Amino acid sequence: MRSVTHSTQPIEGQKPGTSGLRKKTPVFMRPHYLENFVQSIFDTVGARGKTFVLGGDGRYFNDRAAQVILKMAAANGVARMIVGQGALLSTPAASHLIRLNETDGGIILSASHNPGGPTEDFGVKFNMPNGGPAPEAVTEAMFARTREIAEYRILEGAEVDLSAPGRVTLGAMQVDVVDPVADYAALMESLFDFEAIRALVKSGFTMRFDGMCAVTGPYAHEILERRLGMAEGTVVQGAPLPDFGGHHPDPNPTWAHALMEEMMGPKAPDFGAASDGDGDRNMIVGRGIYVSPSDSLAVLAANAHLAPAYKGGLKGVARSMPTSCAVDRVAKALRIEAYETPTGWKFFGNLLDAGRATLCGEESFGTGSDHVREKDGLWAVLLWLNILAVRKASVAEILHDHWKTYGRNYYSRHDFEALDTHAAEEMMSRLKASIPTLPGTEIEGLAILSADDFAYHDPVDGSVARAQGVRVRFTDGSRIVLRLSGTGTEGATLRLYLERYEPDPSRHDLDPQEALGPVIRAAHALAGIREQIGRDRPNVIT
Ligand code: G1P
Ligand code: ZN
Repeated sequence: MRSVTHSTQPIEGQKPGTSGLRKKTPVFMRPHYLENFVQSIFDTVGARGKTFVLGGDGRYFNDRAAQVILKMAAANGVARMIVGQGALLSTPAASHLIRLNETDGGIILSASHNPGGPTEDFGVKFNMPNGGPAPEAVTEAMFARTREIAEYRILEGAEVDLSAPGRVTLGAMQVDVVDPVADYAALMESLFDFEAIRALVKSGFTMRFDGMCAVTGPYAHEILERRLGMAEGTVVQGAPLPDFGGHHPDPNPTWAHALMEEMMGPKAPDFGAASDGDGDRNMIVGRGIYVSPSDSLAVLAANAHLAPAYKGGLKGVARSMPTSCAVDRVAKALRIEAYETPTGWKFFGNLLDAGRATLCGEESFGTGSDHVREKDGLWAVLLWLNILAVRKASVAEILHDHWKTYGRNYYSRHDFEALDTHAAEEMMSRLKASIPTLPGTEIEGLAILSADDFAYHDPVDGSVARAQGVRVRFTDGSRIVLRLSGTGTEGATLRLYLERYEPDPSRHDLDPQEALGPVIRAAHALAGIREQIGRDRPNVIT
């Protein structure tokens, strides 16, 4: 086997976004595209003598990309690669393997919840030795490298057989092919009271888990059906497919509508959940009741002590800025710190590493803890199951009880997708320019208390992330946030986040869209959404 050096040229636009580099699959498959980016990763973090984890969500091109990366790792002098069997690893499982084996980081192949296939999306992301996504300083360095790259190194010759666990070599590099599920399942068993959940299942408790034809299926079959004794068939769409069965592997009421229909129907099981392409997101549904991710985070924070791993209490909680403030109320009652970070899991890493936060969450169906450095879909499902098993109450009872104690933060996110990039940016700049004039004024009957473009000062390393979204607060506690997505691959996506607090229990059963009516109208008036981007209505409401 021979290591060869190919000359190459910088390729435009290899800038990692909210979560790694994401592009249309045909773009990633262009000559040198993947190679340039991977070489830039190795040039930035170093390769010689190092150990990395490698795996992905199984989407189209996952297998071929993994082979390219292995050959490049070997040619760059990497000592050892730990690879999921079939090049599969869920994102949280990859994060765990990086930490468990004390490696130098890992490369995750995924575009998360974006569809997969020859004309859909692909992505590559680097995670640090702590198991978390590379922080901005590192991704910026990688991007800088892609702009000056002149050559990449790759081994010529045979591919690595990833079809079964075992140890092989590629040139001088050791390749350990591992069962993608085993270590992760053991970690889950160490965190939660599986005995109590098994007893709940024996008592007749039923569940539906929708794997959305993505990577979580094998994990859910093993943990829910085999280890926890749930009936076979509990997990549906459990086989990972390269095109996710043609679906959008995004666990929200729009894309997981089959699960939603079942849970709202007459034959609903007690509990329902779904996960996304790479297994880090989760949607939670009770019989007849949907749990918004912001509420889920708050309920988990209030009840985490019921699970063995968190019985000593939480050190603190953190939520992304657009996530509802429901968890802040729990933190206040628990007398722990509540941190507010920019969108993207990478901003939680320092807080988790420093032991300042135990639980983190985002409104975008992401919840996790300090057990790994990624959000973790099945982890959230298991913590819910552990809580249900201990409290012996239904999801609806737990949620209503929570709102009674803390009040309800009505919440919704409206997405306006595939916008003209220029128009969307123009709208945001106008809005930003108007910020200083807003406080003290009234819009649609709501009085504005404050407005800013969110900047985050990391309390651990002192770094500052600016321009993370416009937030407007009203005197009645309502809030709107506007930002442009950093994960899209086509045009721009405007995300509009809406929140209103309701302390009165007699008003806790409203339709969120109705409860938020005035806030929605205020947001449209404030940003001039129709005038600026030509849209009256969002494409996706969560
Ligand atoms: C979206 C979500 C964000 C999440 C990210 C990766 O990013 O909004 O919370 O961390 O996906 O899963 P966005 O497209 O908004 O930049
Ligand atoms: Zn994901």
